[in-house]
Amino acid sequence: MASARGEFSSRFGFVMAAAGSAVGLGNIWGFPTQTASNGGAAFLLIYLVLAFCLAYPALMAELIIGRHAHSNAVVALRKIAPGERSRVVGSWTGVIGFITASFILSFYAIVAGWMLAHCLGALANMLGATDIASWLIEDSMTRNVLFMAFFMLLTVGIITGGVHDGIERWSSRLMPVLLITLVLLVIYVLTLDGAMDGLKVYLLPDFKAAISPQLIVKALGSAFFSLSLGVGTMLVYGSYISDKENLPVLGGIVTLVDISIAVLAGFLVLPAMYVALHNGVEIFTAGGALISEDTLIFTVLPALFDTMGAAGVVVSFAFFALMSIAALTSSISMLEVPVAYAIESHGLSRRSAVLAISAVITLVSIVILSNFEVLFGMVVGVTTRYSQPLLGFMYCLFAGWLWQRNSILEELRKGAPEVEDTLFWKIWPSYIRYVCPAVILVIFLQALFG
Ligand code: PHE
Repeated sequence: MASARGEFSSRFGFVMAAAGSAVGLGNIWGFPTQTASNGGAAFLLIYLVLAFCLAYPALMAELIIGRHAHSNAVVALRKIAPGERSRVVGSWTGVIGFITASFILSFYAIVAGWMLAHCLGALANMLGATDIASWLIEDSMTRNVLFMAFFMLLTVGIITGGVHDGIERWSSRLMPVLLITLVLLVIYVLTLDGAMDGLKVYLLPDFKAAISPQLIVKALGSAFFSLSLGVGTMLVYGSYISDKENLPVLGGIVTLVDISIAVLAGFLVLPAMYVALHNGVEIFTAGGALISEDTLIFTVLPALFDTMGAAGVVVSFAFFALMSIAALTSSISMLEVPVAYAIESHGLSRRSAVLAISAVITLVSIVILSNFEVLFGMVVGVTTRYSQPLLGFMYCLFAGWLWQRNSILEELRKGAPEVEDTLFWKIWPSYIRYVCPAVILVIFLQALFG
């Protein structure tokens, strides 16, 4: 069975795919703005500690379970469960995971569609087609549906290619482009007047603003979303890793890349906001806080690009291309979760699985777009604030309590014969057993009652 499944052909291929999944709108959009509004470097510090101490161990749980079972989350959790009752719980955790991944994709595709439309809008402006450009950047139902569907088609195109020819090939092409674009944008923005004020806000710690329980909870939530945890994405990607690979090292690299790109994006977004301020664009809300979320991306930054003259269109194109690429390498990992399940557990061909599932998700996206005010925030909230932490908690229970420790060690030894003597093995088992589930539970309760 395992040989009929796809497998990443190299360590580089896996790292690009998993980092591609992790690096998404959460890194380039969510992280910098949260940092800016919540104590700058102090938030950054808390985020770094949480990402390494809690998100990395949880990522490892998914990778180890996935590689051990070489199958989707439903089958994998059943396989490591010791009794009938825990097998049923395992199946449900896997099923709720792929439903959550599908719902995350349904709102992600809408936002990614806006990014694509703005990217093409900048291109149309470059070519002098200003009417087309304004249609592309103005909010309308037709534009939103068309570009959401366009983005889904791109995702479908890649996932139909399978693990090696689709996911690995495209992540390995797109991730370097993303990194180069990001670095060039950072360098350019840092040369502009006003940028240094943004850097100060980003890098000077304000511990009073950062050390609050709600904020720590928020930082942990972002770290989980950012590493794509809980919904089975990393488990499925882990299931495509060869037995030769050293899992703790691979997981460490993916975590490092994810965090580095989030931190790097802070060097772009914060300085850009203060360049905008310098150029006369309003960047504070009436209450005095920094403008964030969609108003930042689709109003403040475009207003900044408008003040940059000819360079503005190029920067705008590069910025929205960066966002679209980041979104695409994440969306393919979301779609792969239900697709892997449909192929392995229901015998569908990859093509039929991809078409059927993406059609349903596209319909859900259309329903969300038609009732945007009510449904959009609700779907984001339920999937990321409730479902992801709860599923993450279940993964910790499976890896920390239900799965035999010897069997975990055996799995790790396949690619890392000395693992028993490493710091990883000294810390991780008790972390995943006690610390991770306890902290995730706190987040969940906070999200419910906070
Ligand atoms: N990690 C992605 C981001 O930062 C989001 C994601 C969540 C991807 C869950 C896959 C699964 O944008």
